[in-house]
Amino acid sequence: MNEPLPYPAAPVRHGSNSGQPMTRRDGRLKVTGAATYAADTHPEGLLHAALAVSSIARGRVSFLDVEAAKAHPGVVEVITPQNRPALAHDPDSKTLPFSFRMDALQNDRVRYAGQPIAVVVAETLEAATEGARLLAPRYEAEAARIGFGNGLPEPAPMVGVGAPGRAETGDLEAGFAAASQIVETGYETPAQYHNAMEPHAIVAAWDGDHLSIDMPNQAIAMSQASFAAFFGIPVQNVSLRSPFLGGGFGSKAILAGPQVLCILAARMLGRPVKLVLTRAQMYGPVGHRGATRQTLRLGTDAQGRLTALEHHAVSETSTFDDFIEPAANASLNLYASPAILARHDAMRMDTGTPGPMRAPGEASGSAALECAMDEAAQAAGLDPLTFRLINYAETDPISGKPYSAKELRACYMRGAESFGWAGRPLAPRQMRDENGLLTGWGMGSALFPAPMFQAEARAVLRADGSALVETSGADMGQGAWTALAQLAADGLGLDIDQVEFRSGSTDQPDGGIAGGSGHTATAGGALHAAGRDVVARLTELATADPESPLFGAGNSGVTARDGRLVRNDDESRSEAYADILARAGLEALEGTGRGARDPANAEARAMFSHGAVFAEVKVDPELGQIRVSRMVGAFAAGRIVNPRLARSQLYGGMIWGLSFALHEEAVHDLRSGRVMNADLAGYHVPVNADTPAMEALLIDEDDRFVNDLGIKGVGEIGITGSVGAIANAIWHATGVRVRRFPIRIEDVLGL
Ligand code: MOS
Repeated sequence: MNEPLPYPAAPVRHGSNSGQPMTRRDGRLKVTGAATYAADTHPEGLLHAALAVSSIARGRVSFLDVEAAKAHPGVVEVITPQNRPALAHDPDSKTLPFSFRMDALQNDRVRYAGQPIAVVVAETLEAATEGARLLAPRYEAEAARIGFGNGLPEPAPMVGVGAPGRAETGDLEAGFAAASQIVETGYETPAQYHNAMEPHAIVAAWDGDHLSIDMPNQAIAMSQASFAAFFGIPVQNVSLRSPFLGGGFGSKAILAGPQVLCILAARMLGRPVKLVLTRAQMYGPVGHRGATRQTLRLGTDAQGRLTALEHHAVSETSTFDDFIEPAANASLNLYASPAILARHDAMRMDTGTPGPMRAPGEASGSAALECAMDEAAQAAGLDPLTFRLINYAETDPISGKPYSAKELRACYMRGAESFGWAGRPLAPRQMRDENGLLTGWGMGSALFPAPMFQAEARAVLRADGSALVETSGADMGQGAWTALAQLAADGLGLDIDQVEFRSGSTDQPDGGIAGGSGHTATAGGALHAAGRDVVARLTELATADPESPLFGAGNSGVTARDGRLVRNDDESRSEAYADILARAGLEALEGTGRGARDPANAEARAMFSHGAVFAEVKVDPELGQIRVSRMVGAFAAGRIVNPRLARSQLYGGMIWGLSFALHEEAVHDLRSGRVMNADLAGYHVPVNADTPAMEALLIDEDDRFVNDLGIKGVGEIGITGSVGAIANAIWHATGVRVRRFPIRIEDVLGL
């Protein structure tokens, strides 16, 4: 166990912008249609590309009617593996950071249904689409391997994007030997697809060896470098714009074949090319959440304390790459147990490679863990909340490290109080509402890591005292534009109305990745630091100038607020930023900042956001219809930059949890290997009528280790906890444990 670091002294002074429930700064642009998305880009001379995708899951393409497609009026070119120009980087290598093997017409092999097999480029979208249809591909098909009974099993040395496939602490067998009761159970989760409202889209244009790209993107600088590698040009020759995204959820953080093919087409034809995936084409080359089959064993002693916790996940992956949903890792950091083992195996199938999808690992793993905890509480005759409090981890179970901050107990208490949990009968099937519907209450704990990546930012104070701040972040709809501007304004000591915020382009400093729930902490930290840097330079100017009222105050003798530097020892003496610049004869003053975690803190502390979710469901005893009627979540995630947007993020997560519990599943035809519900009619997501009254409580948490600003993240944690809470409420309503997601009418019918 590591020595805890001394508790850092005073937190950095925060300005008045963060903490305010400001509305989205981009809201007006979006509701008026003024916000343009990648597919809204129409450069001069634009050509349209359409993908032809494979309708078999395994085999090879034996024939494409290229001539028929080319003969169609308006079709300019058909790109197949036969005429596809060379790339400077092998799409099947994995040497670029955070990259996946992709399909960019490198050969005639088919490794999943929906794989790109040709690109048709035409003067109009209609001609390109018709050209793609005319290709009428023929295949030499091999039997598709889809489903856990059909795949190729393999141990998983690594899971996710590089976590170990196995982690353990303590003596598991001794733990089970000491248990007075052992619960062994299993849960299955299906393949799920991101289904962002905005499909993947790209407009690519070449000017000599300079490449210009419009596309929605969660990792702008990283993508810029990857595209440069694919096309053998210097990084600075790639400019990429991604001002708005209609959702990303992880699928827009990773480059895929279609984007590379569009850029290739533009270079081949010497004209700009646009490619927009159809909804159906989103079910293949751009990632998904892999299915899992999980088994858990929980040993408890006579007092209900865990003596051992084992979590094994078999996760679906493709035959040619190795992203493996790290589901079992959900058991590593939440409950105290002297012995824990989390391990993974892979099952290779003829499917597109899974990838990170909102709370990758935690979402599916927590669903299983929270249900298993409910089963163990039931077996011990304990209330599920009491059982979790008995097993509350005061230090991180797997590393032994203290938490940077953990207000989970307060989440349990406040959430339970608001929900009215105290009156819950222990046994199932005890409650009915006024309409005779079976009513049940369930809960789950929520946990998500609080990572930081690397980001840079720039702030420029202008002669009039206003400022421009820039970082290449991504607003996928979560409100980054607003929260990041609030932090930048705080750093500058300005009101947010004085701050112009620019983001979403490679013209700006590297804003890192909008993912892992770490964007606000990382890019926000960089912006805040850039603002502080400007203030420090301004302070130097003023305090060294005999004509300034701040002369001689020293660097730490002034405070920045409301566009002025104010003397700490005499608040009546202050000077406006604009005046300081004017006297120094400066048109502008620039500062820079970086966002990254202090490695000493990262080493010494375990850093997570926590929460507790309580759900009420109603089940029709005759029809089996299941509805969630109430959800209350209480979350502790460090300092909240914008409570309105944070709550909105948490609602989004909780709704996703509901979606996971009751709606989402990609269903495969086992013969063809195709997803049969590759559309928003057959692939169910909750609509307003499915979404109950929700409450997201924000629990104060002062975390001085995660970063100077005390910021964690709220993007993904809302899913974890919510799935289990709903499944457990269904058990409480009906007495039926459903161990396969999504839970359906037929699972609880006729009881
Ligand atoms: Mo994500 S799955 O961190 O966008």
